[in-house]
Amino acid sequence: MKKFFQIATAAILLAGCGEKKEEKKDGFEMSRTKKEATSEMASDGVPVDMDNKGVGPIASVTFDPEIDTELSKAGESKFQMICTACHMIGQRMIGPDLSGIYERRSPEWVMNMMLNPDGMLREDPIAKALLKEYNNMVMTNQNLSEEEVRALAEYLRTL
Ligand code: HEC
Repeated sequence: MKKFFQIATAAILLAGCGEKKEEKKDGFEMSRTKKEATSEMASDGVPVDMDNKGVGPIASVTFDPEIDTELSKAGESKFQMICTACHMIGQRMIGPDLSGIYERRSPEWVMNMMLNPDGMLREDPIAKALLKEYNNMVMTNQNLSEEEVRALAEYLRTL
């Protein structure tokens, strides 16, 4: 009787294919590819606060209106060497897409994040929200000098 019921159920399900009402029964597998909606929004649930300068040694930075191309080139090669393991331009990867970063973070915050990711992830409200958004993936400290970070910061202006 149970067997008959299963077959009957299967037949009904097959017959009513147009309707999305299938239930999973023993011996009757409906393979459904369920795509998880992956959010493209890097800033999901992450606050934007341009007055936040972050936690770290950088108290104040002023960018020249003109981009310093030499400095940005130096930053770019550093970026290609150590940041692309986790960051991709134009797309979220292990870490956020960094294009347009200065539209959502202050330059000081960005530089402190590069110099002191540990402290930032522990104490800064934006970084803490990012950590959550990025599944607790920790941005590792690359032990960069302030000069290197300034060059990287210049490169990020070009994205
Ligand atoms: C091990 C992977 C990894 C590496 C390497 C890495 N990052 Fe990150 N980065 C992350 C993750 C993940 C986040 C989000 C915060 C978190 O979860 O730690 C992040 C966040 C950031 C943010 C803040 C982004 C935002 O939307 O506010 C900046 C800026 C940043 N990284 C710059 C860099 C730069 C520049 C480098 C290279 C010097 C670098 N990162 C190297 C993983 C990495």
